[in-house]
Amino acid sequence: MTTETQQEADGAGAQSSSDTLTVTDNRTGKHYEVPIEDGTIRATELRKIKTHEDDFGLMTYDPAYMATASCRSEITFIDGEQGVLEYRGYPIEQLAEQSSFLEVAYLLVHGELPDRKQLDEWTHEITIHTFVHENIKEFMQGFRYDAHPMGMLLASVGALSTFYPEATAIKDEEVRYIQIIRLIAKMPTLAAFSFRHNQGKPYVYPDNDLSYPGNFLSMIYKMTELKYEPDPRLEHALDVLFILHADHEQNCSTSAVRSVGSSQVDPYSAVAAGVAALYGPLHGGANEAVLRMLQRIETTDNIPDFIEGVKRGDEKLMGFGHRVYKNFDPRAKIIKQAVEEVFEVTGKNPLLDIATELEKIALEDDYFIERKLYPNVDFYSGLIYEALGMPVEMFPVLFAIGRTAGWIAQWLEMIDDSEQKIARPRQIYTGQRGLEYVPIEKR
Ligand code: SDX
Repeated sequence: MTTETQQEADGAGAQSSSDTLTVTDNRTGKHYEVPIEDGTIRATELRKIKTHEDDFGLMTYDPAYMATASCRSEITFIDGEQGVLEYRGYPIEQLAEQSSFLEVAYLLVHGELPDRKQLDEWTHEITIHTFVHENIKEFMQGFRYDAHPMGMLLASVGALSTFYPEATAIKDEEVRYIQIIRLIAKMPTLAAFSFRHNQGKPYVYPDNDLSYPGNFLSMIYKMTELKYEPDPRLEHALDVLFILHADHEQNCSTSAVRSVGSSQVDPYSAVAAGVAALYGPLHGGANEAVLRMLQRIETTDNIPDFIEGVKRGDEKLMGFGHRVYKNFDPRAKIIKQAVEEVFEVTGKNPLLDIATELEKIALEDDYFIERKLYPNVDFYSGLIYEALGMPVEMFPVLFAIGRTAGWIAQWLEMIDDSEQKIARPRQIYTGQRGLEYVPIEKR
């Protein structure tokens, strides 16, 4: 940044290059040129705009980071206006159609698609790490019978950090690689254990003969049969859902993983922070909230009254709207197709009629059109999960299984990014100052 007085600037007829911002501080008449890089200015450049020497300088104020880029990333690209989503440059539609979740997880973590040998090794490593320490089982049995599975997942992922204390060596590439394998491998096991606990059923151990989604279905549904045989259509639908949920650039839970990870804590603790953020109904908890909303609407006849309530501000149309997408969430379109595949096996869920009618009405209503509210990833996913026999509490847990691949890829990128350091935002202080302490007897 360069500074000139207003007179110098006017006199010299300063011709700034096209990649700069010219700022005039009217408090001092000083003139600043701020470089523009990748559509942003470095907030720290603003600190040079001062009214006097010991002034801290200007900062930006951006609650909820509506217009703040926190990092450079090569992992996921989203164009919110066009409804585009790409993982490492590959369109989500192609990956959902042609890839598998484990291959996508490899792509997100390593930055390129694996060859056959790499994919086989990756799959083998993950398959042989699906078991968790028996103490984890005992730990999970300490929860109330009706504990929310997301709360159980949050706690048990964090607990994994106590079983692998070496995971704090986050700069050691070999050590962190095995933690990455463990996290991807063990999330379905922890998720299934929390489901079985919630159902009061014995836990089912991983079956390493099955695929990643197939093994998850086995740990969820296996009862007295010697070997669970997943329906390939359900296995495929679940795999596609894991792909669609794998990453989504700097969403709330990924930002939590990056922020907590910036303190150089182990990856289990950082991912546990992501699980906690995803638990919220405005984020990963929305798929659970959508199902409850559809169940509450009950029939298509009730939709007009419900929509009026939303427009009055009584509640939100859960599964609609997005901070980035101001067009259709491409994932919602793909999930809507996957719904049909699952219903072939499970029979049609009557709530689908309410969801499609709700979508149709909302997309024609000015309230939603003006606010650019379209169905997001959570609007239809719950219908598939319910059709798979999952209780609504499990829906955000299924989201977390897929998102673990993205959390880890983003955590890795943050750790290796030389521009990053411990995340510690500033504030605008609005409280009182310089008060005298008053003894309690005088208050
Ligand atoms: C996910 O970030 C990600 O990428 C997230 C995610 C991922 O993959 O990680 O895509 C996954 O979390 C999807 C979003 C799931 N959440 C929901 O479906 C919950 C319902 N949606 C909203 O809460 C909301 O749309 C958000 C949280 C998703 C986005 O909120 P923003 O960007 O802060 O937008 P906003 O709340 O400022 O809304 C702008 C306007 C407001 O109206 P006004 O105050 O201007 O009159 O739109 C309204 C909002 O009230 N609005 C809604 C609405 N969403 C926004 N009104 C009714 N129903 C809704 N769903």
